[in-house]
Order: sequence, then structure tokens, then C-alpha cells
Amino acid sequence: MTAALIDGKAVSAQVLEEVRQRVAACVAKGVTPTLAVVLVGDDPASQIYVRNKGRRAAEVGIATRDHRLGAKETTTESLLELVAQLDADPEVDGILVQLPLPGHIDADAVLLAIDPAKDVDGFHPDNLGRLVLGKPRFVPCTPAGCMRLLQEAGVDPAGKRALVIGRSTIVGKPMAHLLLAANATVTIAHSRTTNLAEEVSRADIVVAAVGRAHLVRGEWIKPGAAVIDVGMNRLDTGKLAGDVDFEGARQRAGAITPVPGGVGPMTIAGLMANVVRSAESRVG
Ligand code: GUN
Repeated sequence: MTAALIDGKAVSAQVLEEVRQRVAACVAKGVTPTLAVVLVGDDPASQIYVRNKGRRAAEVGIATRDHRLGAKETTTESLLELVAQLDADPEVDGILVQLPLPGHIDADAVLLAIDPAKDVDGFHPDNLGRLVLGKPRFVPCTPAGCMRLLQEAGVDPAGKRALVIGRSTIVGKPMAHLLLAANATVTIAHSRTTNLAEEVSRADIVVAAVGRAHLVRGEWIKPGAAVIDVGMNRLDTGKLAGDVDFEGARQRAGAITPVPGGVGPMTIAGLMANVVRSAESRVG
């Protein structure tokens, strides 16, 4: 069997088109959906992410307010002050503080200070808590994108065995809860899991979000399984590779996301969807 490719570029374009129409409807009612983006320091990967977010926002009509701060001049207190200003600004619908923050800044305190009603990343404990309760408001963008890709591939998680590899707050944990809410039987594997091959071989759905190139071998995949690869690993050759051995896995899987062009484009699309959702509540 050769797996069907799940095309994240095409699906994200669809999501962005839906968002563009909803943004236009807000603007027609006098509300321009607005995202504040805060970037501290000059981490090159973060700069690229933030640039891409700005570009996508412009394409769908979302206004952005950029706050680029030097690492040296920025303290936890000064960042908390900025977040408080953005919280209080009625024209700001979403606040995104790009992670990672420099080590001298208390990232937990900063994320906690974001008004949960503007937390379009879905990282605030209030939003994560709602997700765990099965009553989500803003869902973290990457796991939300993975769920949409499963849906587009015609995979209903209900009654299936799902394996999430990775337990980060940004991807693994929320992903497990989304799959649980969709009635999958969910296992979370991580760096202390003793037999990853066995766990993978039992799974009807595999979501790999660890950040280790080709950790998941093709021969482990259960025939017909759906494979969602969140990994974005830069190889020495300069090429991007996922957490899954794509060439091996596609011989066995029923459906699989490529890297690049799978989950990656879904994350920014999910962010834009969260911003317009927040703006819609301002429209009333
Ligand atoms: N750093 C890496 N991914 C993300 C993300 O989705 N949101 C934020 N704020 N920072 C990140």
C-alpha cells in the first residue's frame, strides 16, 4: 500500500479562505480583527515565524501590531506592563508572545498575564483547562491543525487507538485531549517510554511531535494507519525532515502528512482562525 498524502498546503489555503471571508464580515461591521505580536530578542527561527505570521495576517485582512523588543532591555516587569496594555486595548483581539522567551524572563508569568479571551495561542491555563474539561475556547493552533488534517483525510478518531508521541504543552498534551474529546483511545509516549516500536505498531493514528528526525521507523507503522508528523528537523544537509521516516512509513500507512507541506502550514492558519473568532465576539 502507498499512503494517501495529506496536503497541508491545500487544507490551510481552504482554512485561510474561510478566515478571509469572516474577516471581511467583521470589517463590514466596523471591526478590524487585530493581532498583537510580541517578539523579544533575535532568535532567527522566531524571526522567521513572526514574519510568516505577519504575511499571512495581511493576506486575510487581519491587522497586526508588532512589538519587537531587545533581549537586553526587556525584563519580566516591562513585558508584563506591555501585556497589560494590550489586554486593556479594546482594539486588540489577540495577543501572541513568541516563544521561546530569553532565559532571564519568566515566561510562565507572561503567559499567565495574557487575558484568556485574547490568548489566541491557547497557552493560558484557563484555555488549557477548558480544553481538558471538554469545553474548549481557544485551542492551540498546531494540534487544532492536526485534527483538521485528520478530518480532511476522512479519519474519524472515534473508537480508534491514537498514539501521541511527545508531551509538550504546545502540542502533545493538547493533542491528546483533542483526540480524547473525539472519542479515541489515547496513549501518550515520551522520552521515558520503554517500547516505542510496540506502541506505534498498535496505533491506528500516530501523531509524532518530539523534534527528533526519523525517530519513528516506517516498519513500525500499522498497515493503514493515519500518520501526522509535527516534526520540523533541520538535517546537516540543510533539508527539513519530520519525526517519521516518511519514505518507509508511506509504504504502510493509509494516509500521511509530508514534511514540509503537512502540519506546518496549518499552524498559522489556525492562529488566524483564532484571531477572527476573537474579533467576532467583539462584533457581538
Ligand atoms: N514558538 C513555536 N511555536 C509557537 C507558537 O505556536 N506560538 C508561540 N507564541 N510561540 C511559538
